[in-house]
Amino acid sequence: MFYPEELVEEVRTKNDIVDVISGYVKLQRRGSSYLGLCPFHNEKTPSFSVSGSKQIYHCFGCGAGGNVFTFLMEYENYSFPEAMKQLAERAGVKLPEAEFDEEAKKREGRRAKLLEVNKEAAKYFYYQLRSEKGQAGYRYLKGRELTDDTIHRFGLGFSNMTSDDLTKYLKNKGYPDKLLCEAGLAGFDEKYGTRDKFWNRVMFPIQDTNHRVIGFGGRVMGEGKPKYLNSQETMIFDKSRNLYGLNFAKSSRAGNIILCEGYMDVIAMHQAGFTQAVASLGTSFTEGQAMLLRRYADEVILAYDSDDAGVKAALRAIGILKEAGLAGRVLNLAPWKDPDEFMKNLGREAFEERIRQAENSFFFELRILQRNYDLNDPESKTRFHREIARKLCGFSEEVERENYIEAVAQRYHIGFENLRKLVYAYAARTGMAAPAVRPKSGIQKKPDGGDNKKKPQRLLLTWLVEEPSVYPKIKKYISPRDFTEDLYKKIAEKLFQGLEEGHVEPAALVGLFEDEEEQREAALVFNTKIDALRSRTEQEKAFHDIVVSVKRNSLEYFGSLMGADVSALNQVIEGKKALEELSKTHISLD
Ligand code: GTP
Ligand code: MN
Repeated sequence: MFYPEELVEEVRTKNDIVDVISGYVKLQRRGSSYLGLCPFHNEKTPSFSVSGSKQIYHCFGCGAGGNVFTFLMEYENYSFPEAMKQLAERAGVKLPEAEFDEEAKKREGRRAKLLEVNKEAAKYFYYQLRSEKGQAGYRYLKGRELTDDTIHRFGLGFSNMTSDDLTKYLKNKGYPDKLLCEAGLAGFDEKYGTRDKFWNRVMFPIQDTNHRVIGFGGRVMGEGKPKYLNSQETMIFDKSRNLYGLNFAKSSRAGNIILCEGYMDVIAMHQAGFTQAVASLGTSFTEGQAMLLRRYADEVILAYDSDDAGVKAALRAIGILKEAGLAGRVLNLAPWKDPDEFMKNLGREAFEERIRQAENSFFFELRILQRNYDLNDPESKTRFHREIARKLCGFSEEVERENYIEAVAQRYHIGFENLRKLVYAYAARTGMAAPAVRPKSGIQKKPDGGDNKKKPQRLLLTWLVEEPSVYPKIKKYISPRDFTEDLYKKIAEKLFQGLEEGHVEPAALVGLFEDEEEQREAALVFNTKIDALRSRTEQEKAFHDIVVSVKRNSLEYFGSLMGADVSALNQVIEGKKALEELSKTHISLD
């Protein structure tokens, strides 16, 4: 643990999970808990549940779950200490210097150093731009019609002709070569040693949503290759989960997000007052970025370049947006190539008008698709219609699908019923609705309900949390040792102790685990609902079965250990006796 357990608990209990999550997700009261749309996967009906009494959250759709710390770690991409810091501040708890274990200390230290050195570098570039040596850069940016205000707001800078001045400057401040290389600010060269990565370029610091500099893009002034040089990915710079300009766009409240291709586009848009513009980071648009945008708007307006590459990138982005449940529209920039040029030539009002006229992304896709077909040829036309039908199957919601069938039929002069038949024939052949997937790597696992060893153990824990009154009735048969799954054993140990002492704290139990995956699984224990619809007699039977199968599994487990472990024998003898007794005992739930 990074902080003493009592302190973690203090911070946790002083931050009500419903209050905290309400700041991010719209929640509605449903009985004893709150329900909302899950921020971690795409859904239209709420399955994200937050429990005030248990102080945990759980999504029945994608399996996300945990306590208030887990939530901030997943949502804000924070490390545990960062989540701790934010929540401590929120609750007015003063934190002492954390006591880190060795590995965590190293990891945190490196993160902090990377952020620090990036910030220093950004400052250095910023001052260079305003120095004698930076005049070429300054003139370049002015030539691109950026105002001093804009240059300042985006923290633009300059890396000068000298090939090791930044390295020297940062080393003088005490940052080692290794860190500079790791941060992507310098590279090592056999012949020259450590040298700056960026030189003679105007510099665009890339910030995360908390305004922290996490990387750089550097542009040559004029022609030259590569046009943009970007920092490589580091521990703090994940190109697939950040967007250029999002630190400002997230509070623009325009109701939509304008997605552009380039940094200069974003800057030009912001300068013209469209502060909702963002761009990906020199790589193509990703699912992670779509999920990020979903937090801030329901609609994304694509303002990609109007050349072939731009159209192709737009088609790709449309698919990703749709998967994430975001409506997309495509802006027509003609006759200009990109938003930056458009703005320079036609200005903000014309752009405003283009936003209003932006084309529904599905119609955009069809329009591009149509280019491959000759509608005067019946053969080709039929193939086009089949392709349209195939695409219409992509709408998993019936109302939406029907609306699109209608609109498309009208637009392309196809008989409504004919098109409809085509769509449903296609759907029947292939099976339509695609299941939701979680974008962030490593957390795609659905809760494991099938495993017949794990499930009874989990359910027994759930029962004990939901109805602690059954504890005295089973404690003579079951002990934490009977939980053969490590995670459940750990929970059982704490839980049984709590039940002995007469208090149970689910969120604290979740906090026993440092790993996000484990926290999620622990949260599941406290969120599985006992089937209340069944009669009490049926419930009693089910409960009895659960106790028996936990015990039987434990018996089997210790039986297999007997050769190697002396204490296993006792466990086996005790297990056999308990099972025999259980077979004759009725456990009443009242
Ligand atoms: P300007 O020519 O300055 O207006 O740039 P732009 O922002 O219009 O860039 P462009 O449309 O050419 O490219 C869009 C984005 O792709 C840029 O903002 C960069 O993120 C990225 N990009 C462009 N050129 C390169 C390159 O040579 N290397 C890499 N890694 N990324 C590039
Ligand atoms: Mn451009």
